Formats: sequence, C-alpha cells, structure tokens
Amino acid sequence: MKKLGFLLLLLASFINAQGQDEKMNKFISDLMNKMTVEEKIGQLNLTTAGGFVTGSAVNEMTHQKLQKGQIGGMLNALSLSSMRAFMDIAVKESPHHIPLLFGMDVIHGYQTVFPIPLAMSCLWDMSLVEKSARIAAQEATANGIAWTYSPMVDIARDPRWGRIAEGAGEDPWLGSQVAKALVKGYQGNDLSLDNTMMTCVKHFALYGAVEAGRDYNTVDMSKVTMYNDYLPPYKAAVEAGAGSIMTSFNVVDNIPSSGNHWLLTELLRNQWGFKGFVVTDYTAINEMINHGMGDLQTVSALALKAGTDMDMVGEGFLTTLKKSLDEGKITVNDIDLACLRVLEAKYKLGLFTDPYRYMNEERAKKDLMTPENLKAAREIATRSMVLLKNDKQILPLKKSGTIAVIGPLGDSKKDMIGTWAIAGNQDKISTIVEGLKNVGGNPVTVLYAKGSELTDNPLLLKSDSPISPDQKNSSETVTSREQLLKEALQTAEKSDVIVAVLGEPSAWSGEASSMSDIGIQKVQQNLLKALLGTGKPVVLVLINGRPMTLPWENANVSAILEAWAGGTEAGNAVANILFGDYNPSGKLTTTFPISVGQIPLYYNHKNTGRPMDSNNKFTSKYLDISNDPLYPFGYGLSFTTFEYGDIKLSKSKLKGDEKLTATVALTNTGKISGEEVVQLYIQDPAASISRLVKELKNFKKVLLQPGEKKDINIEITTNDLKFYNSDLKYDWEPGDFIIYIGSNSRDVKSAKVTWVK
Ligand code: BGC
Repeated sequence: MKKLGFLLLLLASFINAQGQDEKMNKFISDLMNKMTVEEKIGQLNLTTAGGFVTGSAVNEMTHQKLQKGQIGGMLNALSLSSMRAFMDIAVKESPHHIPLLFGMDVIHGYQTVFPIPLAMSCLWDMSLVEKSARIAAQEATANGIAWTYSPMVDIARDPRWGRIAEGAGEDPWLGSQVAKALVKGYQGNDLSLDNTMMTCVKHFALYGAVEAGRDYNTVDMSKVTMYNDYLPPYKAAVEAGAGSIMTSFNVVDNIPSSGNHWLLTELLRNQWGFKGFVVTDYTAINEMINHGMGDLQTVSALALKAGTDMDMVGEGFLTTLKKSLDEGKITVNDIDLACLRVLEAKYKLGLFTDPYRYMNEERAKKDLMTPENLKAAREIATRSMVLLKNDKQILPLKKSGTIAVIGPLGDSKKDMIGTWAIAGNQDKISTIVEGLKNVGGNPVTVLYAKGSELTDNPLLLKSDSPISPDQKNSSETVTSREQLLKEALQTAEKSDVIVAVLGEPSAWSGEASSMSDIGIQKVQQNLLKALLGTGKPVVLVLINGRPMTLPWENANVSAILEAWAGGTEAGNAVANILFGDYNPSGKLTTTFPISVGQIPLYYNHKNTGRPMDSNNKFTSKYLDISNDPLYPFGYGLSFTTFEYGDIKLSKSKLKGDEKLTATVALTNTGKISGEEVVQLYIQDPAASISRLVKELKNFKKVLLQPGEKKDINIEITTNDLKFYNSDLKYDWEPGDFIIYIGSNSRDVKSAKVTWVK
C-alpha cells in the first residue's frame, strides 16, 4: 500500500514536471516569436559588471547595451545596489523586459569563506562538502547571485598549476563524489526557490592537464585517458543535474574547447544527455584567434555551431553573429537554440516570475555570516587539515605557557581565505595568532613575530592577482631582514614552543599562478632553520594552495600540519587542532612529491613495462631520486593510531553481477578517540588495455574510541571494475582483481579475487 502511494506520488510529480515543461516551452516560444535576431544574440552575451576581471577585456557602454537588450547576463557584480540598477534597466527599458542572469565565482563560500576546494576534498566527507555549498548558496542568493561558476572539477596531477587549489585533487572517483555533492548543495531539489542557485561545471574539459603545469597551456592526451581519468567528474556533475557548463581555455584533441563540436555536442549533449547551457570561459572565443582558428567572425561562428550558447566577456557573438547569419555561415536555428537554452535557465531560476527574487536585502541582513555558518566554516576547516608529521608527540600542545607564533603568514587575514573569495568578508577572519588566543584562553600567552618576508624572488614580489588579495611586499633590505630575524629569535627565546607559520600567500595559487618552485621559499626556510637552532620544540603550520615539496622540512621538523587556506575560521580551526580539541582526520587528495623533477607524480599511474626496481638500473626511475612521493595520496595522520587486520573477502570467486564484500578489522590502538578514512582501491592486473596500478573505488570514515575494534565492510560490485576500453566501450573484463584496503594509497593490505562473466 505504502509502495503504491509512493508510486502515485512519483507519477504525480512526473506529470506535474511535464506540465511545468510545457508551460515553460510555451512561455519561451511566445517570447522568442516576438524577439528580433539581434535581441536573441543579445541573450548570448555575458558581460563583466566591471571592477573585477581576469583577462585583458572588460565591457563598455553597459547602460546602452542593456537598454537595447544586448546583454543576457553579468558576472561578478559585487554590490546588490549595482545589480538592482542593472536589472532595472533590463526589465524596464529593454524591448522585451527580459531579466538578467547574475553569475559569480562563488567557489568556496560567499561571505563566510570555507577552506579552498582542494582542502575541502581532504575532508572525505560528502555531507560536509554539500553543506558548504548549501550555505554558500543561501548567502549568495540573498545578495543577488543566481548562478555560480562552481564546481570546478578539473583533475590535476601537477602541483605547479596554481588552479590545483580550486579542484578536488587527482582522483577521478573522489572528484566525482565531490562534484555531485557540490551540485546538490548549490542547486538543492528545486532551482526556482529563492535560496538555490544554478551551478556551472568547469572547465570543460581537461584544463587540469595543461603541460608543465603552466596556466592556459596546451593539453594533449588519448581518448582512453580522457574517458577513464579526466572526464568522470564532469560527467558526474552533469548527471547530478548541473544547469550549465563552462568551456576551458585549452584545446581538446587539438581544437579549442569553445569551438569543439565533438566535445560540446557529441559528447556532452548526445552521449551524456546534458540539457543545460554552455558558457565560455573569460574571452575564450576571442582566444581561439591566438589558437590559430581564424578571425573573430570565424571563431564566433565556429563556437556557436560547436554548441557554445553564451559568450563570456569577449563579445564575439554580439559583434559578428548577425553578419555570419547574413552570409549564410550560421542559421537562425543555431541562434535560436542557444537563445532558448539561456532563456530556459532564466525561467527555471524563476527570474521571469520575479526578476528581483535573488535580491533580498532583508534576508541578506540575517542570512550572511550567521553564527551557524561560522560554526560550519570552523568545523569544515578543522576537518580539512592534514597532519603530515607528529614525531615525539609534540602535538597536541598544552593550554598553558607561552607560544611564539613566527612567520609571515602567522597573523595575516588575507592569506587565510585563499584564491577566489571575491565576496569573502575579511574582517571576521581569524589568523593563527588570534585563533591560538581565542582557543587557548587566559592560561596561554601568544607572542608573534613576522620573522621574514614571504620571498626574496623579485618576480614573485611583483605577483599580484585580481582574484586574491594583493601580496606585494615592501622591498626588503639586508638590515630589515636581519632585524626581522633578530625579533623572531628574541620572541622565540621567551616561549615554550614555537609555531612556525610558513608557506604561500593566497595570491600564489589560483588562476595565473603557476610556480616552478613549489618548496618553501629560501627566506622562509632560513627562518625555520634559525628557529630549529634555538632547540625549542617547533611545529610547522603550512598555509598554501598546492602540494609543496618539503623533503628538508620533513627530515628536520618534528610536527607538520597542512592547514591550507582555511577560510574565515582558519585560525580558530588551526588552534582547535594544535590544542587537541579536535583530533585531525583529513587525508591528502593529491600526491606531495619530494622534488619538482618527479612531476607529474600521482598514485593512479600505469605500471610500465619496467616498473621501478632500485636494484636494476634499466627500470623506469631516476638516477638521483626515488620514484616515491614524500606523502602519498590518501595520507594523513591522527593523534591516535590505527591498526588494520588482513582483508577478508566474502568470496574468492564470483560470477556475473554477484556482489563482493571486503572486510577489515580496524582497531584504534592509541589513547584517544579518532576518525580514520578506510580506503578501498582496486587493480585490474590483466586487461585489454594497460590499466592503473591502483584506483580508489570507495572509502568509509569511521570514529573509534581508544581500544575499540570494528569490522569495516565495503561492498564491491562489477560497476567498480568497469573502464573504457580502446573502443571507448564502458564495461568490465573477467579475470583476477587485486583489492587493496588501507590508510592511504601506499600503506595497504591486499587480497585477490577472480571474477568471471
Ligand atoms: C576563470 C573562470 C572564472 C571566470 C569568471 C576565468 O578567468 O578561468 O574559472 O569562472 O574567469 O570569473
């Protein structure tokens, strides 16, 4: 009976949805029947609201264009009053009163800033990832924004690429889980509500594979690698219902994404069934001229025909499509299709019912930076941090005595929020110094000295980014350098323990922030050496947006905490961990190499014909360094210890769609309770294509009390065995499989299973 009720409900909602669709279709076709071609082209034009730009072009004559209906949407407008003013012109003065779509890079929070996405992926907790997006949407939609340029789901295996900070790391399976959770968090179940926003999956596609980690560089890879290792997170986001997708700057199979018909139409729409609209990245159509695809008219027509619907900032569509139509290079149908998709998005967001529904000053007053939002930011930041080393049990610190916080990032608000925090409220950010004071309370004395500048590299000193706070240093002189060090050592002398806060400021990761040296800058390392020279215990807290090379630090410092750029609550969260109020459980989602020379270095690589053997010269390795990373994918310590039992399989031989359960006994062998991320990897050692040495397929995050032992069961199905073969057919192949379970991608137990069709 219950089941029947449920089915009837499902049917009713299906009929209702169909009715809604019919209503929408009628509304839009009536509207489009009235629009001129020029007005339709206007809907495809996305312009900057000024103020905040990431490319050479900005848009002008906005007022006139709005009046003529030549603008469909605007990006990164910062104030609600300016958005209202723009909307007024569009809905009151333009020919058909079509509302504007306001978009923004709401990437890791809005005013309440969460840790950078790379850090959030280290949570291994999809409900918290989703929660961060839900809160971001709740805040942004009160302040005028209906559309976010998130999730960024580019798989990245090269930490020189500054945009590694914006994604979920190197693993396609984990990246897919994060992508789904973010889409769900932002969009909810009903886009027309005034507190849900449309997502934009980016950067489609393969942007994370830019050669040499240099931003905007070229990409080249086989289709099999694309399908297996890079495309899954985009596909997962599309399947989760993402309303739009953004093209990437790079070429895919030698054709720039924005003009790539195979990518935007055959794969995205025909194979994956994507129903939303495609927007380019910032001036990406114009950049096709530099890619060598022709002049602006040619590339604009190419982009439209390929499946691009909206042109971000470049105005190639606005200025050339009519001419191309007159010359027969494109059809009215091409324009209509793109216009229809943009209007559908506006309709689904409820903008035709009320253009001002996302501009709610009253809600903005009460929904932004609420105590609950800050609490969530703190919990998420605390859980995203990864304990890399804790020898001699320096951590946790006692809540008494004197702590010397030393380092250029120890008391910097702007470097806690990381890249892409356009709307982030800087005033409320807690620095490490403030966090230790807040959490330590009266019994703790916290001293601070800067100790050194961030760098003495003149090129880096000049680096500046519109998407991150300005990092320009005053030019350092020899005397001031000595003075800084002297003050640091004097401060250190007065303390019981030193917390060295080093790494990279916000402006060194994110867009246009590639680095060839991803170690701690020399001036900071010299400071660290001097601090270690005092003989006092030293804890290294790293603030950064990418994996770093830390062989010297790992060899010489007893305790290292990877704190990333933790957002509004960064300092309080670091203090929660340092004082042991929270036992760290974050696990890395990108490999930390020993040296830049090893890059690209990632756990899910192929075996090669000559896997590394340190005793055999003629194997795949370097003469001067091992192939091993410093910290592998999945790695992260706790203040307690866990012991893994051997893997027990429910069966050792399976047939067809049978299910397998792998079980390990996990014991908390330490003295405090703690959470562990139990990770399951699979290897397919003999197949029709060369497969990877290990692939993450599942995990379980479990809390164990001291001494507690628990059986952890993880189910495996044939879905977990599937891959794209050389014909791009997605299936599994019978044979033996190795199941690995462990605490990270390196330290695992293994068991073999045979699975036949
Ligand atoms: C970035 C995108 C971003 C867009 C709009 C571009 O430069 O590549 O990730 O969404 O600007 O700000």
